[in-house]
Amino acid sequence: MLIRALTLFRRAVPASRFCPCATGRTQQYCTSAKNISIRDALTSLDTGSNIRIRGWVRSVRSQKNHLFLHVSDGSSLQPLQVIANSDLNIRGLTFGCAVDITGSLEKSPSQKQKVELQAQRVEVVGECDPVDFPFKIKERHSLEYIRQFPHLRCRTNSFGSLLRIRSEAAAAIHSYFRDNGFVQIHTPIITSNDCEGAGELFQVEPSGNEHSSDKENPHFFSVPAYLTVSGQLHLEVMAGAFPAVYTFGPTFRAENSQSRRHLAEFYMAEAEISFIESLEDLMKVMEDLFKTSTEHLLSQCAEDMGLFHKFISPGQRKYDLTFISYTEAIDILSRNSEQFTFKTEWGCDLQTEHEKFLVKHCGNVPVFVTDYPYDLKPFYARDNQDQPRHTAAAVDLLVPGVGELCGGSLREERLELLKTRLARAGLEDTYAWYLQLRQFGSVPHGGFGMGFERYLQCVLGVKNIKDTIPFARSSRSCLL
Ligand code: 4AD
Repeated sequence: MLIRALTLFRRAVPASRFCPCATGRTQQYCTSAKNISIRDALTSLDTGSNIRIRGWVRSVRSQKNHLFLHVSDGSSLQPLQVIANSDLNIRGLTFGCAVDITGSLEKSPSQKQKVELQAQRVEVVGECDPVDFPFKIKERHSLEYIRQFPHLRCRTNSFGSLLRIRSEAAAAIHSYFRDNGFVQIHTPIITSNDCEGAGELFQVEPSGNEHSSDKENPHFFSVPAYLTVSGQLHLEVMAGAFPAVYTFGPTFRAENSQSRRHLAEFYMAEAEISFIESLEDLMKVMEDLFKTSTEHLLSQCAEDMGLFHKFISPGQRKYDLTFISYTEAIDILSRNSEQFTFKTEWGCDLQTEHEKFLVKHCGNVPVFVTDYPYDLKPFYARDNQDQPRHTAAAVDLLVPGVGELCGGSLREERLELLKTRLARAGLEDTYAWYLQLRQFGSVPHGGFGMGFERYLQCVLGVKNIKDTIPFARSSRSCLL
């Protein structure tokens, strides 16, 4: 009975699905051909072993009796060279097709790679018409060109590298916080607060809610709800029970901007630290996060980072940070006012052109700008109570090529001062819960947020922020 069942099974399965080893099993279940990523194959010392790889063909070259393929599976920038006998007669093998290959991993005679795969079986899993496929073999497509194909650009070398670096950078940020005693908090995406007070909010209602029958309260929640612009206020809640907390997630701003550094949906790493009393303590954490994550990327993603630095831009390699106060920044800018479209005076917001100038002026290194005018900063920023120039203990980190990368501040922990400021803005009731945080066991604290896509722009030298995120959202963009 069992033998009959096995015979029927063998007849039902195409011959190409059986492993060429002697076990008689299909490829899927054959234990002698080890499934292995291309990254692992490239560094394997186990030459002579029978392996199975699956991926996409990056090049095909025919030579006498052999076919030479380069196959990628997203695990590394470098593809694996595969050599197949021409008489394997593989149908549909073109640039871009998906393949499933079994063979013997061998030492390569070429200097270009240590190992190559001598194929015993090559199966085309998914064909790809190279004429219609928007990417062409051996052509180097620009980031602008591939941006037109958000559903396909992950198949290019440059965007593949970007995505691996992005994944590793996210892991590095989590590791930094975990290694330094921060507790991760999942702050909500739907919230009622406008933490930054800039009114750049996306409102959240169920679709069709404009016909809500409840005219008294037409909202799904009991109050108008929005997509978060920052997790800060929720982190501040947690900073009342933990010395150090962080969040790292999507953030939304309805900025009607087509600039190269703004997205409507971006990721932000935010930290909140209790019992700190100076901006220096905060800047130390910002600097450490920046340096540790970047060093991690340079050591763990050297090949992918190299691609950006070689073909796209030198990126940000200098990490000696410097400091100036907002007042000093305005002095510098005013002395060079002829260079700017927007004129500066004490009290004005810094524009991108000013931020970029300051970075260059300071030697093209990251620059902390501290102690901004009190009236420029949101209600939560701590009052420096200085005269005659009234400032808040707030800090921005400006970086080459990008401008503002991080924004942070000490928070106003003194109940009376905070109450007065909120009352002046008519927000005392809205933020009654926030005031309670100052009523019960309030401590000096501070925090900051770092834009993740801007961080990638900075370390990779990528000009347009849309090229640092898998699926970019900005005003008037088409959504996938
Ligand atoms: O300076 P921001 O607005 O600071 C905050 O939201 C604070 N509540 C953070 C905190 O203290 N926990 O934003 C922080 C960073 C900016 O420096 C910038 O890098 C990034 O978020 N950012 C954007 N990135 C891409 N697109 C946008 N539209 C961005 N807006 C801000």
